[in-house]
Amino acid sequence: MAKINENYGKLTESYLFSNIAHRVSTYQKENPAADIIRLGIGDVTLPLCPAVIEAMHQAVDEMGKQDTFHGYGPEQGYSFLKQALLGYYAGRGIVLEEDEVFISDGAKSDLGNILDLFSPDNTVLIPDPVYPVYVDTNLMAGRAIRYINATESNGFLPLPDPSVRADIIYICSPNNPTGAAYTKEQLAQWVQYAQDCQAVILYDAAYEAFICDENHPRSIYEIDGAKNCAIEFCSFSKTAGFTGTRCGYTIVPLSLSIQGAKLNHMWLRRQTTKFNGVPYIVQRGAAAVFTPEGQTQIQENLAYYRKNASVIAEALRSCGVWFTGGTYSPYLWMKCPNGLSSWEFFDLLLQKANVVGTPGEGFGKNGEGFFRLTAFGDQQRTIEAAQRLKQLIASL
Ligand code: MLT
Repeated sequence: MAKINENYGKLTESYLFSNIAHRVSTYQKENPAADIIRLGIGDVTLPLCPAVIEAMHQAVDEMGKQDTFHGYGPEQGYSFLKQALLGYYAGRGIVLEEDEVFISDGAKSDLGNILDLFSPDNTVLIPDPVYPVYVDTNLMAGRAIRYINATESNGFLPLPDPSVRADIIYICSPNNPTGAAYTKEQLAQWVQYAQDCQAVILYDAAYEAFICDENHPRSIYEIDGAKNCAIEFCSFSKTAGFTGTRCGYTIVPLSLSIQGAKLNHMWLRRQTTKFNGVPYIVQRGAAAVFTPEGQTQIQENLAYYRKNASVIAEALRSCGVWFTGGTYSPYLWMKCPNGLSSWEFFDLLLQKANVVGTPGEGFGKNGEGFFRLTAFGDQQRTIEAAQRLKQLIASL
């Protein structure tokens, strides 16, 4: 008789964003005239930039000709894209080898799949609140999770507690959901802690492109020693609008060994066995992000989203609402007004202002009483949503 993985019984009934989508669609069916503005899931709204589209068109033409057609590619990605990434990292003084870069269909998949490399009896340290993928993928594998509290009092940037031991540590900076970003000095404390515990840091850098100063690292490899203890995950989703196109990358340094095994070799073995690579056309589009035109164009799009963030931030400030994020991140993490719970505020905002956000509680117990808004929306709609938010808060 087949036996199921009983760990699935430990998961919440549905994934956070599916749950929200379901609630919003029920509300829309019951209220067909409601003009709903969606600032919930962090999905981009601007189209792919012209440099990417042009590169993809050319790649499509290549696929239609005998002598430039591509079948199976290397599972770990084409050299042209890895070389472009090496140049991107070199621009920040980080020297990587091509074999350390693995192209994937996005950070979410790799963050889940990387757990294949680790024994189920590792103890995992996860901040709370957190991107639900880290928690759910470890629950599925039956791994023990220790939570570290991110709260208003530590600015949602918890630092390591040397009395707590961990084997695998998740860090996301700039953070999803709180938008808070570690400084170099703070991140160096985490690297030191990981070295002391002989732990591995799984560093989610999906929002690195939003950092706009030198004091906040965009890669964990800006910190000395990180190449011996950290794997970095990143994606073109938020940097260049690839949420529907799917392309990301994971850096597994060759110097990262556990119990004498190189994690890089294990990941290569895993990917060549279970993954057939990202489509050639998509990788050509991703490589175009690093051309001078591509860089200029994606910066224009990032500036558009930053402007949205500043519009929401201004609305919150004018109502005297505490929040973090929005500066180095497309997310704003606000305290729910009048002591409302995060799902109460979700319902109120949906019903009275027809605006959708994400209840903090969905990201963990410390998210209770907080609420996430995304700056990835259309600009006019974001301005309208900020106005409705202000009116709602003023009326409470
Ligand atoms: C989010 O809204 O947290 C993200 O869009 C989810 C993701 O990147 O998978």
